[in-house]
This record gives sequence, C-alpha cells and structure tokens, in this order.
Amino acid sequence: MAELTTTIGGFHFNNTIMNGAGVWCYDRKELSAVDTSAAATFVTKTATLAPRAGNPKPRMAATDLGSINSMGLPNKGLDYYLQVVEEFHQANPEKPYFLSTTGTSPDDFGKIFTKIAASNFSGLVELNLSCPNVVGKPQIAYDFAAVERILTQVTGIYHGPLGVKLPPYFDLVHFQQIADVLNQFPLTFVNTINSVGNGLVIQDETAAIAPKGGLGGIGGGYIKPMALANVRVLRQLLKPEINIIGTGGVETGRDVFELILCGADMVGVATQLGKEGPKVFARLTEELTAIMDAKGYKRLSDFRGKLQVPEAREVAVH
Ligand code: SIN
Repeated sequence: MAELTTTIGGFHFNNTIMNGAGVWCYDRKELSAVDTSAAATFVTKTATLAPRAGNPKPRMAATDLGSINSMGLPNKGLDYYLQVVEEFHQANPEKPYFLSTTGTSPDDFGKIFTKIAASNFSGLVELNLSCPNVVGKPQIAYDFAAVERILTQVTGIYHGPLGVKLPPYFDLVHFQQIADVLNQFPLTFVNTINSVGNGLVIQDETAAIAPKGGLGGIGGGYIKPMALANVRVLRQLLKPEINIIGTGGVETGRDVFELILCGADMVGVATQLGKEGPKVFARLTEELTAIMDAKGYKRLSDFRGKLQVPEAREVAVH
C-alpha cells in the first residue's frame, strides 16, 4: 500500500494532510481532536500577542461550493498557544506541531518572536501574512516591501524553523516579486493559499456575514484552481529548500493528489474540515491512498511536482 510520509525542513510526518490555521484549532479541545485524528499534525489558530474576540457575528457561512468567513483572528493569545503546543509536544515528543502567529501592528512582530525565541517551543512557526479580515488592515503579503521588512526583523530574532502563510497571487509579476523577497530569507516553508479575500456571498437578499459590509475570505471548492496555480508557480520560483504546504479547495483525496502533483509537500484542509470535522482526515487519507495504489505510486515523491502540460499546437488563422 502507498505510504504518505513527508518532511518539512528536517521534520518528519507520517501523513501529508493537516488542518489549515483557523479551523478546529481554537483551543486545547479542538487541537486534541485533530491530534488524535488521522491528520499528520496540527497548526494552531493564528495567535496574536493578546487574546482577541475577533469580528462580530455572523462571521462565517458554509455554502454548497465552499465558505465565506470574516473571523478577524479570534484567538486566545500567544501565551496560551505556546503553553498548549508545549503540552502536546511533551505528550508526543516525536510529533512536530505548527504554531501560527501574526502581528496586528508593526511593533508586534519583534515582541512575538522574542517571546517565541525565549520559550521552549520546538516546532515550526507559521507567520500569517495574509488574513483578509482584520478591519482597517491590509493583507500584509500584498505589500512586498512590508514582507521584506518584517522577515528581516523576524529572522534577526528567531532562528527556528519558520514559514509564511501567503494570500493567493493572480499575476505572474506578483508571483516573481513575492518569490524574490522570500528567497532572500532562510525560510523552511510557505503555506499557500489563505482564503481569497473580500468575496461576497448573498443569501436571498442579504449578505451571508456581517463584518466589512458582508465581505470575507472565500474558501473551499471555489478556490481550488487558485490554490493549484499558486502551489505550482511558487514551486517553480522558490528555492528548492523552501517546502510548500498547499491549502485551498480540498474536498476529496483527488484534490490532495492534485496539490501534490503541483509540488506541495504537505496539504492543508480548512473549509471541508469545518463542514465534516476531524474525521475528514481519515476519508482523505483513504481516498488519496486509493488513487496512488490505482496508479502504482508507492510514495508521494513518485508524483510530487510532476504535473504534465499538453504540448502546444500552433493554430492557423482562418
Ligand atoms: C480570520 O481569523 O479572519 C481567518 C484567518 C485568516 O484568514 O488568516
């Protein structure tokens, strides 16, 4: 039977599927449910320096094709997640965990990473530069100079394994610009993509969520083509030592397969995890394994990054 082991940096995982930050990762109870599921590991809710209530409700809605959310980074604060991840690590010293974090003001980044560097944290940090839902704040990773400034500061303070969570890019010039910035730093991974920011879902005659006049991040099946493209193009542009976690639009094992075909080393699941709960990981694992067995692939490296593109045929004018 096919095996699904993978590595991010020097860390080994016995499966390639995990949650995406934001879903089933708010507190110890939710993290424990993911930890004891078939998932490879978990990433925490994005922790800010101080706890946050997030945006007013209703702030999340599931639709047939995916989801819209404007959660606004509700979380229990960095100290809580550092403590909880340490507890999971003590219980499972062999299992690497991800801590997601971000700043809500330029001053925060130095404070956050000084705190992490001084803690016992020994997993991987995912720096979220892409939340579209903090009212009055832009998505940081659309500002390439800001990304460079923040990573210069953070990597001067923190020398552990570090990755960034990116928003989707839609223009090849922007892919090149973000890759040029990221390639300057000793990053372990990127996670691409966060939700597609500032979409609108209408139910009858009313926006599905309240914050930002109804605008929110779009997830689920709607965004799979963007996730595939971002994984594929960044894999071509980033230094090979930067691993990729592909997130966006995973509903089936086939979706996991396609993200890996585009170059993902690991795959995140968010909207579908919200719809189905942590049992989704066992189903996706089974479906991915069945596809690999049917194709005769024994391990992920047999097809990772091996997407084929049809040969282009010239078209005559008529
Ligand atoms: C949120 O808290 O608004 C969602 C998390 C994210 O988009 O980064």
